[in-house]
Parts: sequence; C-alpha cells; structure tokens
Amino acid sequence: MSYPQQITETFQRAMSISGSPNAVSTSPTTQSYLAQYSPTFRKQAKALKPFSTGDIKILLLENVNKTAIDIFSQQGYQVEFYKTSLSEEELIEKIGEVHAIGIRSKTRLTEKILKHARNLVVIGCFCIGTNQVDLEYAAKSGIAVFNSPFSNSRSVAELVIAEVITLSRQLGDRSLEMHTGTWNKVSAKCWEIRGKTLGIIGYGHIGAQLSVLAESMGMNVIYYDIHMIMALGNSKQVETLDELLQKADFVTCHVPETPETRNLLAAPQFSAMKDGAYVINASRGTVVDIEALVSAMKSGKIAGAALDVYPNEPSKNGEGLFNDSLNGWASELCSMRNVILTPHIGGSTEEAQSAIGVEVGTFLAKYINEGNSTGAVNFPEVQLRSLNYDQENSVRVLYIHQNVPGVLKTVNNILSNHNIEKQFSDSRGDVAYLMADISDVDLSDIKSLYEQLEQTPFKIATRLLY
Ligand SMILES: NC(=O)c1ccc[n+]([C@@H]2O[C@H](COP(=O)([O-])OP(=O)(O)OC[C@H]3O[C@@H](n4cnc5c(N)ncnc54)[C@H](O)[C@@H]3O)[C@@H](O)[C@H]2O)c1
Repeated sequence: MSYPQQITETFQRAMSISGSPNAVSTSPTTQSYLAQYSPTFRKQAKALKPFSTGDIKILLLENVNKTAIDIFSQQGYQVEFYKTSLSEEELIEKIGEVHAIGIRSKTRLTEKILKHARNLVVIGCFCIGTNQVDLEYAAKSGIAVFNSPFSNSRSVAELVIAEVITLSRQLGDRSLEMHTGTWNKVSAKCWEIRGKTLGIIGYGHIGAQLSVLAESMGMNVIYYDIHMIMALGNSKQVETLDELLQKADFVTCHVPETPETRNLLAAPQFSAMKDGAYVINASRGTVVDIEALVSAMKSGKIAGAALDVYPNEPSKNGEGLFNDSLNGWASELCSMRNVILTPHIGGSTEEAQSAIGVEVGTFLAKYINEGNSTGAVNFPEVQLRSLNYDQENSVRVLYIHQNVPGVLKTVNNILSNHNIEKQFSDSRGDVAYLMADISDVDLSDIKSLYEQLEQTPFKIATRLLY
C-alpha cells in the first residue's frame, strides 16, 4: 500500500468513530485533511471535529477574496457568498444560523445585529480596520474577531518607492502637462534617487519593507522609531526625530494613529528639514499637518509631497467628493505643483486582497477547527499544539467564561475525571478563555462533559472538539 493511501485509510478510520447522537459534522473532510498534510510538517496532527454544532456554516459578504472561499470549501464548511453587504434586516435573519461570518469594511456588526447570532463563534474582518464591529459586545458573547493588519505592507512599501522617484523627477507635473498638450522638457531640480537619504519614521511592517527596497535602489536609509529595532541591511536607526529630519532628503511616515503621532510633522518639523526635502505620508491622515505642509511648499522649503491619507476621507468613490467642505485646505493643496495625491490606495492591490483572504481565512479555520485564538483583536489569545493523530480518546475543551475568581476550580473539577494532558488559559478584560486537552475520554462521556460545562455559572460559551 502506498504511503498516501495508508494515510487516507487511517484518516477515514479515525473519522468513522461514532460520537454522541448530537455529534454531527462534515468538518473537516478527508480531502481537507490531506490537503493540509505535509509529510515533514503536520505528520502527526489530528484533524478535530466539533461536538454538537452540526455542519459549519459560514456567511461571506462584500466579495471577500476567493482565496478565503477556497480555504473554507476545502474544510468542508457550507459557504454562503454575497458580492455586496446585506441590509440590517437581512443580516439579522442570516446571522442567526451561521457559525462564522466574513465581512469587509461596509458591514456593521452592531450589538443589535449580534444579539441575533445564536451559533456565531467567530467574525473575520477581511480588511485592516475592525471598528465596524462591536468588539466588546462580541467578546462578551464569546465571539472572537480576527483581521489582517499586515497583509498589505509590501503594497504600501512599493507605492512609496514609486512616489520617491515620481517626486524627485516631477513626474506628476510632467504627466499632467502632457495630458493638456504641453511639452516641457526640463532637468532643473530633477534628481536621481541613488545616493540620496530616505528617512523612515516608524520602522514597523511597512517601514522595514521599504528600507530593504530603498537600499536596493542605491539609497541610504535612516529611521526613527520609539522602540529600538534591529536595522535591516545597512540602514541605521537615529536617536531623535530631529536628527532624521536634518539628514533626510525624503521623509516618509509609517506610524500608527495615536495621540503622540498627531501632527508629528507640522511647521517646526518642516523648518528642521533640509531645504528642498520631500514629504510622503501613507500612514494616517492626522500624522501630517497639511496646512503647514502647504505653507512649507509655498515657501520652497519643501520641494514636493505625496499624500495617500487625509484627516477626513470620503466614505465612497465619486467625483467632486475631495473638496473644501471635507477638508478646508483641499483646493489649495490640489493647486500645488509636485504634489501627488492618491485616494488611500497604499494597500489596494490584488496581491494584498488575496493575502488578506488567506490570512483571515486561515485564522478562522484554525479557530473553528482547533480553537487557536492567536491574532484575535478582541479576545484572549490562547493556543495549544495540535493533538497527535494517535490520541484517539482525547477531547479538546474550549471554554469561554467571565473573568471572575473560582471558575477554573469549577471547570477543573469537571475535567478531573480524565487526564488533563495540557491546559492553557488567558484573560482579556472581562472575558477569559481556557483550552484544555484531556485524554482517556470515553466518547459516550462527551455529551455529559458538555452539559456539565454548559451549566457552570460564569460560562459564556463551550465547544468540544474530538
Ligand atoms: N495607506 C494605506 O493604504 C495603508 C495600508 C496599511 C497600513 N497603513 C498605515 O501605515 C501605518 C504603519 O503601518 P505598519 O503596518 O507598518 O504598522 P506597525 O505597527 O508595523 O509599525 C508602526 C511603527 O511605528 C512605530 N511608532 C509608533 N509611534 C511612534 C512615534 N510616535 N514615533 C516613531 N515611531 C512610532 C512603532 O514602534 C512601530 O515600529 C499605520 O498607520 C497603518 O494604519 C496605511
């Protein structure tokens, strides 16, 4: 018998174990298990199935990327897919049935909607932001929320490289002139980027990627960050923001939006920069004081700027929406030369969307199949290594409860008739999450174990995987 065939048969044997009358599941399937299987990596991992949830149903809205649909279909989940968001009434009706929901930024999951979610265990935000979801209410209801904050870092870094060249060669202006029939062949104040210094403020996911790309194009890279971060390549961390401003030909911001980063670049910082420096902001709109930037450009101190983010941004696409009533300085900014303005597209690429689909899809599948909550934005992050394939009489207990004294004692009393192989629990605010693998469990005991845990006083939700 060939090796893959052996695995298939062993897996099928494992799946044919009969559980309690309530234990019905198609998740995960033989095919999904084998798709995950890699002889070197997941050799011993046991595919778990949930007790008492029935088939896993997942609702995907807002044209979530196909990479995620593939992951869920491979897991044997029932996927209901919509290209758009749904009305509040439709959502309330549908959310009652599903175990997982995938959304992007337009669907608002408020307390009013989440109250109707009888079976929901997890929400996937297939985007960066999560403020469209009532995170606190979700956590208190035992619903974990995941997002994908870093899948588009490379896309942003590449955009910034394009902007560095575009600014130093005045490409935006030349292109606009040609579109209106003007031939303006100039070389004055147009520069190569080789040998110039890029100053990166915020050396996180995007800043670090950018550093590598910029060096490969012959730039010198310096960066400033509130944390000591190991330099990539030949880049150098500087001790103060002022030092960076004084040395850099291009200053680019890659910091989060915090009270400290509000107007991080304003009039004093522009005056501290080199004459003829360039400013780039693809982080958050509040980080640069745009009125002060316009003044610094008018005076010739700053030679150009590229902005992708603004304090106020239109909520939908359309002509005429970026105007003075949205941001008082909009028309003045638009009239400036050598200014590149883009509509918050730093992370908007097909690759980033596809990576978001894979990342959030994998988070959801891991949470549903194994209980791992690492990466959750509203929930205690707990992870246990996979059960071994040969641990046939083991059960994984996932128990979400109010974070009050005495709960673990009660739960461990219930579990103590079995051997607790491993256990991990953590809390976040009012919510705590316990994962435990117990062995020597007769499959006929699972129902009683589930019922006992369900009756404990501070329980929020219980799931058993076996
Ligand atoms: N334009 C877009 O489409 C787009 C896409 C993705 C992310 N972003 C934004 O880009 C920014 C950076 O994203 P990231 O993924 O690299 O974030 P990150 O969290 O990986 O890195 C941010 C870095 O900034 C540093 N930092 C925080 N406060 C600072 C301060 N006051 N001074 C100096 N450094 C400070 C942090 O220590 C960290 O190293 C975020 O604001 C994010 O929202 C924009």
